[in-house]
Amino acid sequence: MHTLRPVYLDEEHFATGPSVAILDQTQLPHTHITLYLTELNLIYEAIKSLRVRGAPAIGIAAALGIYVHMKHTAPANIDAFISAFESARAYLASSRPTAVNLTWALNRMAGTIKDHASTTVPNILLALRETALAILNEDTNVCRSIGEHGAQLLKPGMGILTHCNAGTLAASQYGTALAPIYIAHERGMSLRVYADETRPLLQGARLTAYELRMAGVDTTLICDNMAADVMQKGLVDIVFVGCDRVAANGDTANKIGTLGVAILAKNFNIPCYVCVPFSTIDTQTITGADIEIEQRNPREVTQMWYEKDMAPKNVKVYNPAFDVTPAAYITGYITENGVLKPPF
Ligand code: MRU
Repeated sequence: MHTLRPVYLDEEHFATGPSVAILDQTQLPHTHITLYLTELNLIYEAIKSLRVRGAPAIGIAAALGIYVHMKHTAPANIDAFISAFESARAYLASSRPTAVNLTWALNRMAGTIKDHASTTVPNILLALRETALAILNEDTNVCRSIGEHGAQLLKPGMGILTHCNAGTLAASQYGTALAPIYIAHERGMSLRVYADETRPLLQGARLTAYELRMAGVDTTLICDNMAADVMQKGLVDIVFVGCDRVAANGDTANKIGTLGVAILAKNFNIPCYVCVPFSTIDTQTITGADIEIEQRNPREVTQMWYEKDMAPKNVKVYNPAFDVTPAAYITGYITENGVLKPPF
């Protein structure tokens, strides 16, 4: 494995207290900058603008972020502490509405406060630190287990297509959709990965191609509209994608473009697996139609990455960050507890 660390708790950078260390993914692959954040509005901004991104990593950043914020600003009185925590929780939860790991992690932090509300503020802070670090460390183990289960579906020489980035950079170490590839690669299996570039924010080109190559995995970058072609040519044996939220009926929200990949895979009889920690399964959301989809700035489509505007001024732009793949297109869900298939 490589040594990329997308998000962690730093307790040495500032003498004044802890910070959330974030590898700024907007600068990758060519520039490595680690941000050390303590202020709530900067932690919000880092999540909103995808400096840290990917469902598990967003949850980890929010958990560490709210701990760091409370540590630096903690009111001495418990009631004031709880009310400050609640407003910080609502603020961070609003940064990216689709990824359920964000609210899952913040709710877990809130549960810790509830469990320690009869003690003192210093005790609550210790417990918050412990929970935030548990969320980080559990992610590594969960993703490794997803990798173990997913690796059983792989055979030497297979071609795998993936969309967006659901690798190390999207979590704490192995990622989800790339975890089976990393595990199989660690065991010496040769595989070929096709990475969709993933318009408009290019997570496939900038992040997936980068981290897979760094790990020595045979990786070919393709534009999103080339997926049908590589599938038709028989170059793809299996599709692995991540997800931001799985509804109770199995419908899955993931990076915009995943729906198209899943439809293509079904057309070409290629199995399409969603790699998903249980923390991303939201049984409160009944179907995919109930998942809130984040809409993003039109400039990501018209201007970002280009030297000049590439579209007519003020053209209408549709820029949802995610789409929903109906369960019928998904062969199975690779979780830390094994591969789930319908009926659930
Ligand atoms: O907008 P992003 O880059 O945060 O979107 C990321 C994805 O869609 C990932 O596939 C998903 O979060 C799973 S990451 C393990």
